[in-house]
Amino acid sequence: NVPKFTNLGELRDRLAPQLWQLLTKASQAAEKRGWHLYLVGGAVRDLLLAEKAAGNLMIKDIDLVVDGFHKSADVGAGVELAKELQQLYPTARLEIHGAFQTAALLWHKDPELDSLWVDIATARTEFYPYPAANPEVEASSIRQDLYRRDFTINAMALRLTSPRAGELLDFFGGLQDLQAQQIRVLHANSFIEDPTRIYRGVRFAVRFGFKMEPQTEEYIRYAINSGIYDRTTQENSRTPALQTRLKAELKNILEAPYWKSALQLLDNLGALQCIHPTLKLDEELLRQLRLLERCLQRFDSQQTFIHWQMRLEVLIAHLAPEYRAKVTQNLQMQEDSIARLKNLAQSLSQVMASLPSHQRPSQVVQLLRQYDLPMLILIALVSPRSLRRQIWQYLTIWANFQPLLNGNDLKKLGYKPGPQYRQILDDLLAATLDGVIKNRTEAEEFLAKHYPR
Ligand code: CTP
Repeated sequence: NVPKFTNLGELRDRLAPQLWQLLTKASQAAEKRGWHLYLVGGAVRDLLLAEKAAGNLMIKDIDLVVDGFHKSADVGAGVELAKELQQLYPTARLEIHGAFQTAALLWHKDPELDSLWVDIATARTEFYPYPAANPEVEASSIRQDLYRRDFTINAMALRLTSPRAGELLDFFGGLQDLQAQQIRVLHANSFIEDPTRIYRGVRFAVRFGFKMEPQTEEYIRYAINSGIYDRTTQENSRTPALQTRLKAELKNILEAPYWKSALQLLDNLGALQCIHPTLKLDEELLRQLRLLERCLQRFDSQQTFIHWQMRLEVLIAHLAPEYRAKVTQNLQMQEDSIARLKNLAQSLSQVMASLPSHQRPSQVVQLLRQYDLPMLILIALVSPRSLRRQIWQYLTIWANFQPLLNGNDLKKLGYKPGPQYRQILDDLLAATLDGVIKNRTEAEEFLAKHYPR
């Protein structure tokens, strides 16, 4: 049961005090100039969903819209407000994006505010000269600002300035949809204009356990069937911003705890086609993703590697090899991801050609140690089961073997330090792996036999 705000006191009772203080200072600065200030978007949604009177809600991402005119046509009201706030909070970094009349204040690991991002926009509307292009800007009222947003639950504003401070502006039924627990889009063209909203809708649905409102689901299917994915998957100088946003949404989804259900829903809607028209979440891909999680849990509990990115790599590795490079390029993936996916086909055939004939553990180690962990995991996921077993054995057991003697021992035994050490230690390791030697005494006998002084 989601209550409607009636006064600012209720807002204060939910928020962490330091955030409340920041919003108060911002609204005072706006009031002083006779402007209106609104909290908009996801922060309002999260506030409405937050526990009543808990007094601890920390929002990491705050969107403010200021409705007012600055005396100079070049400076938006939002920019001026941000400048004043920055004076009050000197630890914040100020960023100004002139063309869109927006400003942002950023705190990084601040003792009070931790990591916080506050966007301050001047009330405006966006129109799309062609679908999925970058928005152009034009000053307008708060209603228009809200109307350009994605879903009703993200399109509410909370007035922070008086008179009527604390009033919820809900033109499109956002509150009702929060109560009905549904994701509803504002207008029919929304997904055509911005296909990444499909991914956002799925993310919110899964995150809050909401359902997709039936008409909205129809719009999504219509957008996909009308080929919007061509714009997301084709290299096109007019849409790089779209691909950047798609990647950001993929990141949001793949690093969230609910990523698996989100992928499932994206697949049900046919939306994985935005990554590549042939991508389907079939049984095989699901198995690979499950195995990836087991590997990451076991071998990378410290998160040395970027897990969401490895999940994305597995999705792309599921495509036919000839499609992979283009997708990695379109999504502007990191160099190491690009390299892994580029080399995957070749590495896999190398492993498939050699591994079955390698009977001794030392041979397996010799072959597999040329690959780093993320590459080896990727190879394992796409390998036939018998090879997977050997790779698993390598990762869990053999890769951890150490030679029974080290360089110091060799020195004590009278071997002259030099390049030969590497060879000796490798041979000792191989003999240990293959069970030829089991303890130091046997290791010394092995040395005496193969490397007489
Ligand atoms: N928005 C939109 N269309 C997009 C991206 C964003 O309409 N493609 C609007 C929504 O109103 C959203 C707001 O911009 O609430 C802020 O976007 P963002 O910070 O990305 O999302 P949040 O809703 O704040 O969600 P989250 O909690 O995941 O940050």
